[in-house]
Amino acid sequence: MHDKQTYGNSYDNTGFQHDDSKPPPYIPQQDVYTNLPNYVITPQFVGSHPAAGPGTPYYTEQSRKKCTLKFTFAIVAFVIAVLIAIGVLVWYYVFFRCFLGRPCRVGGRCLNRAQWCDGVRDCPDGEDERRCFRLLGIDSILGSYESDRSTWMPVCADGWDDNYGREACAMMGFNRQDFVSYSRVSAGSLGSNGYLKLEPGSNPDSGLRSRLTHSETCSAGVVALTCIECGQSLAAPNTRIVGGTEAVNGAWPWQVSLQISGQHVCGGSIIRSSWILSAAHCFGRNSDPARWRVHSGDVSLFRMNFESGSRVSKIISHEGYNSGTNDNDIALLKLTTPLTFTDTRKPVCLPNDGINISPGHRAWISGWGSLRQSGPSPNILNQAQVTIYSRETCNAPAVLNGGVTRNMLCAGELQGGVDTCQGDSGGPLVVKEGNSWWLAGDTSWGIGCALRNKPGVYGNVTYFMDWIAEQLLNE
Ligand code: ARG
Repeated sequence: MHDKQTYGNSYDNTGFQHDDSKPPPYIPQQDVYTNLPNYVITPQFVGSHPAAGPGTPYYTEQSRKKCTLKFTFAIVAFVIAVLIAIGVLVWYYVFFRCFLGRPCRVGGRCLNRAQWCDGVRDCPDGEDERRCFRLLGIDSILGSYESDRSTWMPVCADGWDDNYGREACAMMGFNRQDFVSYSRVSAGSLGSNGYLKLEPGSNPDSGLRSRLTHSETCSAGVVALTCIECGQSLAAPNTRIVGGTEAVNGAWPWQVSLQISGQHVCGGSIIRSSWILSAAHCFGRNSDPARWRVHSGDVSLFRMNFESGSRVSKIISHEGYNSGTNDNDIALLKLTTPLTFTDTRKPVCLPNDGINISPGHRAWISGWGSLRQSGPSPNILNQAQVTIYSRETCNAPAVLNGGVTRNMLCAGELQGGVDTCQGDSGGPLVVKEGNSWWLAGDTSWGIGCALRNKPGVYGNVTYFMDWIAEQLLNE
């Protein structure tokens, strides 16, 4: 890594950014309108014919009638076309899309409310079981989406226990074995719209989400969950460091080196015992999992390479990754055997909704990438502190000129001198909030390294939270 980088704002941490990643609604009336000129006025009999006109043999009573008939036909066709268009729109919004958060049609009907978030995938793509629960803020308060009110609501701790906690964590894609505990905290402003409370006496066999009902009050405090021990560093520096420095063992215990034939190629971050988060562009030419080894647990590449590293059973690159624009530059690697966590090998936290990743915030980058553009790579992991910049700042013509999309974060130092560089790709951009370190970005691209006005660009992990949860749940 060179030393620098960037970006963000809570823009990126409000959840639910994904609506526009859905295909735009099919608007069939376009086709209908395109066809309209065929029905409307093809006036061979009226003035347009070179020889036609009053008094010419073409302009007879018969042809006038014919013309009126044609015109009437055109109007009728037009009205029918409009009615069809309206019908298709109503069908799309009312029946196909299904109103009020019932996301799919099963057996010709909108999915029943009770089947939504009940732990059983009813929709073909599992849409009914997605986005049922979220962790909110640095306290990791459990929230669930209330479609009737279009808002995330905290879950009240009344009647709650660890088994419910484990179940909610599992529904968000965590391993049941990783579950630590649930605790009760004060809801703060999160409770202003009310709470979701376990309904006493509700059927214990029905899904967790369907047993939660809206309540204005909550006496016990709300549910905070530790679904996995994450984001704990033994030795993260807390002083400001300009340029890069060597990290000590345990400072960034989630940092891994992704290697082919014993050569470091890309960085990555441990997010679960069996999962590494990295960048899709690392796997463009090398998409065969068998070629890769994941080395972890040390800042020294040399020392780590005494061991053979972990094997990879699956590489999931984002289906929307675009090598031209670097859009959606994120990938997940599944390990053949889960890692055993130690003081120097631990997962980082994925960003909860509401974690502050706003412009101006300081973040840390780490990696074994080159120390300057086309320069040598270090044996010891390097680290540097950077500033997160807004997309507007980075998209300015003199900076990255519009290259930073919503699923990217831009971070570095505009004056130059601090940045990630070749070989850092896939590695972490982390922020500290509360007592934990959160993965805000994965190193993606830049123009040169550490140049003035050329901050680095990172995949915006917050943006990909739904995608990540979906991949983990599918495995
Ligand atoms: N694409 C590079 C890699 O594969 C990372 C580049 C980051 N560049 C930068 N200036 N921040 O390692």
